[in-house]
Amino acid sequence: MTVSSATLAAAGEGDAKPRHVAIIMDGNGRWAKSRMLPRIAGHRKGTEAAKAVVRGAVDLGLDYLTLYAFSTENWRRPADEVSDLMGLLRHFIRHDIEELADNGVRLKVIGDYQRLQPDLVKLIDAAILKTSNNRRTTLVIALNYGAQAEIARAARLLAEAVQAGQLDPADITPEQVEAQLYTQDIPPPDLLIRTSGEKRLSNFLLWQAAYAELMFVDTLWPDFGKVDLAAAVQAFAGRERRFGGL
Ligand code: IPE
Ligand code: IPE
Ligand code: MG
Repeated sequence: MTVSSATLAAAGEGDAKPRHVAIIMDGNGRWAKSRMLPRIAGHRKGTEAAKAVVRGAVDLGLDYLTLYAFSTENWRRPADEVSDLMGLLRHFIRHDIEELADNGVRLKVIGDYQRLQPDLVKLIDAAILKTSNNRRTTLVIALNYGAQAEIARAARLLAEAVQAGQLDPADITPEQVEAQLYTQDIPPPDLLIRTSGEKRLSNFLLWQAAYAELMFVDTLWPDFGKVDLAAAVQAFAGRERRFGGL
């Protein structure tokens, strides 16, 4: 299905537009299985969906779109599948970032991506640098990301500052913790979507999603597109957020 930019823009109008949408892209394997295809076919189609959704985020005027691409737990998958996923990522950074960059997309990465293969790390760093002045939409890719590891890392960094005599433990506030997270310069997600019908967070943005509106949709990730993103943004507008107040 195609949808005009005007429709997409209209869906994004009003105060109730999320500034930051975060997505757990799930269901590639099941998409492939239902077609008797290998899992890699689902991941390939999932990458296409990701590209379309980034374009949709730009059209909707979202400031930030975070995509959960590889978790710290995904290393538990068979080596072949991990290698296929890294291959797709390499292709995406090499060939697709360019077009997105031309559309004003800035790339950021959260997670311990430095642990990936050195050539991939280099490609990622180059893409981050190349797009750093773009201002339309920031695409945040969560790579080798796990919220528990992220929070443990923040605790470690704070402990080191205390040990160096630069920080008094009594001064440690939520803001201090936030300043040590990978997302230190990214606002928290307003809307968090998970596809494929699973209703869990799988170690994604556990701190940052404290007040995010959660949406679980049955659509498998390879079938998710611009229209689904626009629909989620529209549904978000009907949610009442309270942040603990009245
Ligand atoms: C999401 O699809 C992609 C990644 C986790 C990298 P899955 O591969 O988890 O697909 P299912 O959940 O097996 O269907
Ligand atoms: C979450 O999906 C991770 C990503 C989408 C990258 P998983 O498919 O790995 O999550 P679980 O294992 O079903 O919780
Ligand atoms: Mg899954």
